[in-house]
Amino acid sequence: MSISHMSNQYARGTISATKPFIPPVDEYQNMVAEIMNGGWLTNQGPCVVELEEKLKKIFNVEYLLLVTNGTIAIQMALKAMKIQGEVITTPYSYVATTSSLLWENCVPRFCDIDPNTFNIDASKLKGLLTNETKAILATNVYGYPCQMEAIQNFADEHGLKVIYDSAHCFGTKVNEESIMTFGDISTISFHATKLFHTVEGGAIVCKSKEIYEQLKLLRNFGHTSPTTFGSMGINAKMNEFSAAMGLVNLNYVNEIMIRRKSQWDLYQELLAEIGLHGASYELEFNKAYFPLVLKSEEFLLRVLTEMEKENIHLRRYFYPSLNELDFLPIYDACPISEDISRRVICLPLYHELTESDMRFIIQKLGSLC
Ligand SMILES: Cc1ncc(COP(=O)(O)O)c(C=O)c1O
Repeated sequence: MSISHMSNQYARGTISATKPFIPPVDEYQNMVAEIMNGGWLTNQGPCVVELEEKLKKIFNVEYLLLVTNGTIAIQMALKAMKIQGEVITTPYSYVATTSSLLWENCVPRFCDIDPNTFNIDASKLKGLLTNETKAILATNVYGYPCQMEAIQNFADEHGLKVIYDSAHCFGTKVNEESIMTFGDISTISFHATKLFHTVEGGAIVCKSKEIYEQLKLLRNFGHTSPTTFGSMGINAKMNEFSAAMGLVNLNYVNEIMIRRKSQWDLYQELLAEIGLHGASYELEFNKAYFPLVLKSEEFLLRVLTEMEKENIHLRRYFYPSLNELDFLPIYDACPISEDISRRVICLPLYHELTESDMRFIIQKLGSLC
């Protein structure tokens, strides 16, 4: 290793694919002290209640429940609406979208994606419809909205429920409306690496009071009183320390989102200088991730190896295409998703990432092209 290489690496440190936002420690410590003095650590404590109220305003929704993570949120959505049978879903998402369906004994049927948005191509939904189809579970992947109107029209025409996995969508709006207002139920993840986080956590938003009451039961073992149970349930309650992290992070989320957008635009500019370009999205969105589709899987593997040597960790996000998992009951061919998932990486994107780091990443990428 040359001296210039070594000094570069040590001066720069590791560039991860993603890093959690860490708020000022004293702000969080003050919240922790309050929680500990009060002695109420979980079971719908004051921080959870306050965060739920704040998120309802931010998402402009009436019914919202905080839960322990974005995966259980999807499972509870399926359970609350008693969905059993086939569910049309996306092959291009994190594995939690598919595994939630399998966990709830549903059969995922995969609809191929639009190569420009990476979301379900609504014109292909019809090809997946059978007498067993009960719902659509679509991911607004990377925070970018699906074809909401086309999906809803198709669902209405065929009597299907719509669930949006909006795990990546904090802050995304569609025609000025919060993306969380779409579908029968929307779920979101507040995992540590998300734009807004509660360390681990998530939320479910629904339109109907009846489903909301059902979700509340599901979240807390089915309890209707200490000794009575209205239904089967699970433990999906968020604790106070997670909710407190969310309350502190809410003070910074606007700053995070503004910075994220400028980082995203800078990547586009820098890529253009080396003859590459990121996704050509038409609509505004939260720009939570920066996917980059490379020319071949072989090139992608070379990029990963060479970047590792510079201490730059890129993420194959998403790979594999979920229709190719080998524990599925039915294989549905999705050539576009299969092709893109072999060639896509997400460039590092997090609040702390500096302009100099970004220039370094793209300069290195350019040298490999
Ligand atoms: C698209 C998608 N759905 C669901 C999840 C699951 O969320 P969680 O990690 O909070 O369980 C993730 C997690 O990253 C995700 O990316």
